[in-house]
Amino acid sequence: MRLIDTHAHLDFSHFDTDREAVIARAREAGLLAILNVGADLPSSRAAVALAERVDFVYAAVGVHPHDARMVTSATIEELRALAQHEKVVAIGEIGLDYYRDRSPRPAQRRAFASQLALAAELNLPVVVHSREAHDDVLAALSGWNGQGVLHAYAAGLERLDEVLALGFAIGVAGPVTFTNARRLRAAAATVPPERLLLETDCPFLTPEPYRGRRNEPAYLRYVAEAVAHARGETAEKVAQMAADNAMRLFGIL
Ligand code: NI
Repeated sequence: MRLIDTHAHLDFSHFDTDREAVIARAREAGLLAILNVGADLPSSRAAVALAERVDFVYAAVGVHPHDARMVTSATIEELRALAQHEKVVAIGEIGLDYYRDRSPRPAQRRAFASQLALAAELNLPVVVHSREAHDDVLAALSGWNGQGVLHAYAAGLERLDEVLALGFAIGVAGPVTFTNARRLRAAAATVPPERLLLETDCPFLTPEPYRGRRNEPAYLRYVAEAVAHARGETAEKVAQMAADNAMRLFGIL
């Protein structure tokens, strides 16, 4: 199966004791590429360092809405400098999270806007996080000229058309394998073939049959299988289609 994991956090401490083994298992599982997505400045630096060291790992740099209150003009300067690296292929993960509200909402909106502007300036796609904040995320993106992915899509069909109308791709992760995820499976079955991406969001969102344990890129095949089942297609075809989309969006391989 030809797979690309478009959202991984291999720099997180969850992998400190066995990162090399996790990367080796990903290679054995047929992963063509892994996009390691930064969550703050140290994580973005680590993502670039990992991408520099491991041939099939690429990096996105950005500050997650949880840490939006830390974003200053100096932060944007450093992201701009990090993004010069040839293996940085996106700005992310950026967005809004009104579920946890770890940063004040005005600070989240400012950090999102300044990183969207950076992505436009650098002509890079964005990896967007949206939790309980779809109205404001869609409003910010509708006034922005660029491409990207709404990662770990969790809504049903009702928000799908709005995201697709923006030209964005839909990132599907492990929850699509859960027994009770009928609405998400319906959305995954409806995404146009050229807009579907697969991701783990590891160490989080672990698919069945490993739900409850730490997630890793080698488990991406379970996401591909669940999406394929929902679409009435083979897992090989879905994996190839999503890998082609990832290569096109992020300009990799
Ligand atoms: Ni993430």
